[in-house]
Amino acid sequence: MSNRMPPLVSAISDSGALCYALLRIVEFHAAWLPRAASTELKIELGYRIGKLGSALASAHLRFTELTTDVRLLAPICLEHGIVEVLHAETDETIAAASNLLLTLVGSFVRALIAGRNRDPLFEVLDGPGATLLAGLAAQFPASAAPWPTPSHGTTVLYGNALPIPQAASSPSRAWELEPRRGDEPSWAALIGTPGGRAQILYDIFADIELSAMEVCAASLVRFRELPVQFKIDMARQCWDEARHASACLIRSEELGGPSIGRRYSLKVWDRWAAGRDVIECLCIEQLVQEGNALDSVESLASSFRATGDARSADLLKVFGRDEELHTAIGNKWVNAIAGMGPDLSFGQRLRNAAQRIGLTVPGHAPVAFEARRRGGFPESFLQELASVNRSA
Ligand SMILES: [Fe+2]
Ligand SMILES: [Fe+2]
Repeated sequence: MSNRMPPLVSAISDSGALCYALLRIVEFHAAWLPRAASTELKIELGYRIGKLGSALASAHLRFTELTTDVRLLAPICLEHGIVEVLHAETDETIAAASNLLLTLVGSFVRALIAGRNRDPLFEVLDGPGATLLAGLAAQFPASAAPWPTPSHGTTVLYGNALPIPQAASSPSRAWELEPRRGDEPSWAALIGTPGGRAQILYDIFADIELSAMEVCAASLVRFRELPVQFKIDMARQCWDEARHASACLIRSEELGGPSIGRRYSLKVWDRWAAGRDVIECLCIEQLVQEGNALDSVESLASSFRATGDARSADLLKVFGRDEELHTAIGNKWVNAIAGMGPDLSFGQRLRNAAQRIGLTVPGHAPVAFEARRRGGFPESFLQELASVNRSA
């Protein structure tokens, strides 16, 4: 495809176009995820966002090694292939459209490899790019149809005005889930029996993880103007939350299934949706809700362990480590973006965000200082939390 160009130009062109393709397809999946109703499809979309985001992270790293230019250009035929599935809305059409876009990645990667194979010098000079493409070819299937021949020299530039599927204003839920009534027994009352513990894990799946996954997907499209690295971080977290959702379901079934019911709430989503801008949204989700979760997940793991359920406790320990990564993502972007905005202290920002959604920082659980430290909370804020703890 690009073997007539000088090797450096070819390498920049290939990696930029690859980033373009992956970024557009991540965005499409992110717009679809809250809309998908079936739990299975929703979690699969979360996994796919993670896989595409991880490929984007590697491709973008290669691109930034080659050039300081941030513009991502791609052949116009690639964009035409992507927008063909712009209007998928039902579970069935979203699943088919997602499959199609993954094969589009596979076919595009193979077209890039075929172009390089015609120039052994380029293959040697851009070894890291070649290795990246070989890895992606193994992950993404090719379509049966041949890759379209690009119209000569016609390219398209990535920008946040390019069309994406319409985002849902509120997420869909599968038919087997029913809204909470509010009169369900507390977790303290449930933890003593296997069915009760299965219920707690199901509640974590349906009240927290599903919405957390949707919040990350929705952040990716709501704040499209932010840099590629933000989208890579949201894609990573979306994958983590999809894994958490799936792990809760597996363990809940191992314990015999939830004893009370398959109930859900949208409180995590609704709180995030109350944020008025990117900083407030990050504070609400990653720093207030997930920051408090760093404290409560340790207490909950101890309570599970005290009942002799080490397997569930160990599962929660993994969640805790992942959540540290998520608060670190929140801290990183709040600091990066807040530097351009009004001069509020970190603690004040978090207290304002917590107040907006009717929570406090810290919440009810004892503060997990080490976890919060690893999760990127600044030392001055940890000292504030320590003084709240002392005076409580
Ligand atoms: Fe999670
Ligand atoms: Fe999380």
